[in-house]
Amino acid sequence: MGQKVVLVTGGAGYIGSHTVLQLLLGGFKVVVMDNFNNASEIAMLRVRELAGEFGNNLSVHKVDLRDRAALEGIFASTRFDAVIHFAGLKAVGESVQKPLLYYNNNLVGTITLLEVMAAHGCKKLVFSSSATVYGWPKQVPCTEESPLSALNPYGRTKLAIEEICRDIYRADPGWKIILLRYFNPVGAHPSGYIGEDPHGIPNNLMPLVQQVAVGRRPALTVFGNDYNTVDGTGVRDYIHIVDLADGHVAALRKLDDPNIGCVVYNLGTGKGTSVLEMVKAFEKVSGKKIPLVMAGRRPGDAEIVYASTEKAERELNWKAKYGIEDMCRSLWNWVCKNPYGYPSEEYIPPSNANGEI
Ligand code: WQD
Repeated sequence: MGQKVVLVTGGAGYIGSHTVLQLLLGGFKVVVMDNFNNASEIAMLRVRELAGEFGNNLSVHKVDLRDRAALEGIFASTRFDAVIHFAGLKAVGESVQKPLLYYNNNLVGTITLLEVMAAHGCKKLVFSSSATVYGWPKQVPCTEESPLSALNPYGRTKLAIEEICRDIYRADPGWKIILLRYFNPVGAHPSGYIGEDPHGIPNNLMPLVQQVAVGRRPALTVFGNDYNTVDGTGVRDYIHIVDLADGHVAALRKLDDPNIGCVVYNLGTGKGTSVLEMVKAFEKVSGKKIPLVMAGRRPGDAEIVYASTEKAERELNWKAKYGIEDMCRSLWNWVCKNPYGYPSEEYIPPSNANGEI
């Protein structure tokens, strides 16, 4: 069995870069396509370095998935065993302000990718879905059979892409598709060399906490302390980014199961943690005090969301290993070494004719 070749769209992003590293260390050859709208080319240089001897198995193309000609060119030159599809815009608030941007980028990009995959006989896909498709769950933990309801354009693009995947499988059972619904990714690679570097104002809790910790913002606004939870603040299922990356590798290996079909797995820890508990854990590992401003609830926020992880543990033979303090420790290590994220310039070798970095 020759070395497997995996295409990773959005592979330079936060989850993508951590997954690409685990794939390389797992012996895969990896081709990344990223338009770098919300990712750093430096992340790819660092992944290549962290991969050591496996770094040569990584190639990177600056490509937007809606550029069909560019996709055709890359698929014509490489036979991919499977695709892991991360590429997409993912800011909930921005999606409410700019729905067409999200529908065009996330849906047109995905449809173009799927069409080119099918044209080249590549029908194995791991799709980066999200717990956002559970909306405001009336029952927790969320199982893969929990009711689905997207509450914003971003969530609706995730749900739509899941339905597209189910439809193409029903039309052609030759497809093998795994939809991964992940909860709240947090933390960084233990080296502190790669991590989350959101462009612009972060949307998520822990990137905001990290910016308060290094003095980039004065305080954390806590959205709501009147929920029916342990301390009144929102509860989520936070999962270490390395656990999440390993979950993608486990899913990729599962695609070799001839009977897989089109199936959903939650990637979470099965534990709920409140905003104040997250802040307290971060303060403990960092020694930093995080000033808080208590505010009203954020529109669209659910009260409590956490995963049932039983199906992934059973069928993917995968289980999250790291706890909240591990997540906060790795986050603090990343932000101490990179207080302003990836530097805007390190030496970037010139890209070649087809945009390969
Ligand atoms: C977590 C908790 C907030 C910011 C979203 C997407 C989901 C996934 C993860 C992509 C909530 C509270 C936050 C702040 C706060 N992304 N909070 N002050 O909303 O659970 O999920 O990101 O797949 O799809 O929906 O994550 O980090 O925004 O919020 O109090 O400044 O932190 O109210 O309880 P969320 P989040």
